[in-house]
Amino acid sequence: MIELKNREEIEGIRTSGHLLADLFRHLDGMIGEGMSTYDVDKICLDFIKKHHAIPSCLGYMGYPNATCISVNDTVIHGIPSKHEILKDGDLVSVDITLEYKGFVSDSTHTYEIGKVSREVHQLNAVTEKALYNAIDAANRKGARLHDIAKAVEDTCAPYGYGIIRDYCGHGVGFAIHEDPLVYNYVSLKNPNNKLREGMVIAIEPMISMGTWKIDVLDDGWTVKTRDKSIACHWEHTVAITENGAEIMTV
Ligand code: MF3
Ligand code: CO
Ligand code: CO
Repeated sequence: MIELKNREEIEGIRTSGHLLADLFRHLDGMIGEGMSTYDVDKICLDFIKKHHAIPSCLGYMGYPNATCISVNDTVIHGIPSKHEILKDGDLVSVDITLEYKGFVSDSTHTYEIGKVSREVHQLNAVTEKALYNAIDAANRKGARLHDIAKAVEDTCAPYGYGIIRDYCGHGVGFAIHEDPLVYNYVSLKNPNNKLREGMVIAIEPMISMGTWKIDVLDDGWTVKTRDKSIACHWEHTVAITENGAEIMTV
């Protein structure tokens, strides 16, 4: 069941999302070569605590950290580690979900460490563009979930990238994962609800330079591309309001 949010609830999610955006701005100036993914997680956890928010991922289905940090061929759910040191040329996605005053927001930014290859930079730029094109699609009158998926497909098609099929976006706001599922590819099997005022969804294209096929490692979390190709992930929490699709996490 899709739980619609009223005006005050959307205001609560907006405040939560703005705090999360502040965290990314904080991280923008700090993340870099030589840091471990654990260090990055620590910066995020400290910020979340300092601002009286709750790290929603910590303990979620037994997940051990505040953030998911996914380097290169890790698509999503990378577990922060003291042994994983960021190096020149890495592509690193940082996925953070936080709760503030009872309202949950979810966002992912992907960082280029030092100088990445032209191909990796293109993947990052196209994935971010796919997210914004999907948000534009959600902003159109009468839009449905498949319009979001179609926008991601159309953005990636010229590049031959793989669109991850086994994971998707989701409703968000009261909890980390709510209805509906928001896929990044079009299929009659996927939900195609009309977007309506009060819906709040996390839109999150997960894109690889090669195959869409993935494997989950034995740790039960880490999702890698099967062909070891580099992958990328961008995510925003988006509310459908009377004024259209509004990004909460900016
Ligand atoms: N933030 C993730 C998402 O976008 C959820 C991560 S769940 C965790 O849906 F347990 F792995 F943290
Ligand atoms: Co997320
Ligand atoms: Co999400």
